[in-house]
Amino acid sequence: MKSAEQEKKYFINPYTNLKDIRKYGSLIIEKGRGIYVYDENNNKYIEGLAGLWCVALGFNNKRLIKAANKQFNLLPYYHSFTGKVPLTTLKLSEELVKISPKSLTKVLYANSGSESNDTAIKMAWYYQNALGRTKKKKIISRYRGYHGVTIMSGSLTGMDYAHKGFDMPRDFVVHTDSPHYYKDSLSQESPSEFVNRLLKNLDNLIIKEGAENIAAMILEPIQGAGGVIIPPDNYLKGVQKLLKKNAILLIVDEVICGFGRTGNMFGCDTFQIKPDMMVIAKGLSSGYVPISALLINEEIYETISDFSSINNVFGHGYTYSGHPVAAAVALETIKIFKDENIIGHVKEISEKFNTKMEQLNVHSIVGNARSIGLIGAIELVQNKYNKTYFDPKIGIGSRIVKNAQKNGLIVRALQGDIVALCPPLIINSKEVDILFNKFNKSIKDTEVELNTERLM
Ligand SMILES: Cc1ncc(COP(=O)(O)O)c(C=O)c1O
Repeated sequence: MKSAEQEKKYFINPYTNLKDIRKYGSLIIEKGRGIYVYDENNNKYIEGLAGLWCVALGFNNKRLIKAANKQFNLLPYYHSFTGKVPLTTLKLSEELVKISPKSLTKVLYANSGSESNDTAIKMAWYYQNALGRTKKKKIISRYRGYHGVTIMSGSLTGMDYAHKGFDMPRDFVVHTDSPHYYKDSLSQESPSEFVNRLLKNLDNLIIKEGAENIAAMILEPIQGAGGVIIPPDNYLKGVQKLLKKNAILLIVDEVICGFGRTGNMFGCDTFQIKPDMMVIAKGLSSGYVPISALLINEEIYETISDFSSINNVFGHGYTYSGHPVAAAVALETIKIFKDENIIGHVKEISEKFNTKMEQLNVHSIVGNARSIGLIGAIELVQNKYNKTYFDPKIGIGSRIVKNAQKNGLIVRALQGDIVALCPPLIINSKEVDILFNKFNKSIKDTEVELNTERLM
């Protein structure tokens, strides 16, 4: 029988039967405890990416489980249409407004980051139409940005894999630079020169497209799935200034950065920017149940509310928007953040995490190890002195992921030979040591493998 590799068939997890899944070697996860998950044979792994950047509070938080159970017993479903709303959802909105950047006062719910980003663009269009700026249709997004995979959010995403064969991006999206200093800076270019160049490019793009045709720009404070790209100082503030000057809305996608990841509640706080709209998901429920939200400022709310009065309808919302069980889990998540001072913990533990990340630079194949808060990545290179990248055929990132898995650590390879780390926020000091022992060993194992194959 041919192996999966011989068949050269791209395997899409089909969720049909165990036999097929085993044939292609997917790891079947059965249970989770703290920062660990266990496979069907009871092998234990540190979940170094918190699932998909989301399980902030670990895999068996009793309070979250209890909150879900309690809500199931009280009211397992209700909607927010036709003048009704579940009480728990309302309480969540109040709490979200309290913890969010000051200007944001109203909340629209959905069930995933993609859906909330769709909603953000719809609201940007609706708002601009309400103001009579009916030509403002274009949305600026960035290369290496990840905003989801629906037609709208997938078009915003700035990576080929989300577009190829899907007839995307749609023509309302224009992409601009990613602030990836390590990879994209010119020789001898300082970080501030790099920032100035990118801002000039953005300014030129706005002039070329015409500010009167641009509704909004969307960005992640740190580009997560695009490679954990941490923006250089003053870049985000510079972008915000340009947008304001041109009456272009700023939508901040906090799906990964929100809920403590960067050492503050939101990436907006860390990088000191003020969004007109903000999208949250993932950490909002610690990944336990699907829920996402779009927060908007009062001016946008008032404008779309007035426009809806004229139209006699606000034709937007989903069956499961603000689902009470998801809202109960999210509400409890916020309480846990307060009661257990999760942000304080992240600030403290991230000092050790960032030191350990920095130390990864000693490896011969690590060109750049970067991190902030509890998120980081290593960028792998064949020659760190002249920044030569590996031949893609070598699949360097996947090799590290495979070796890490053998060593009991789950990490994720991203495009461009980058391996990301984003552990649950509850990770403790001893666990940080274990994680990095495993990660260091996995990098060394990979170096040995490459030397044996004489690929270095
Ligand atoms: C920054 C960001 N925005 C949006 C999304 C899309 O979220 P979802 O997969 O819940 O649709 C993701 C998912 O990883 C993300 O990282």
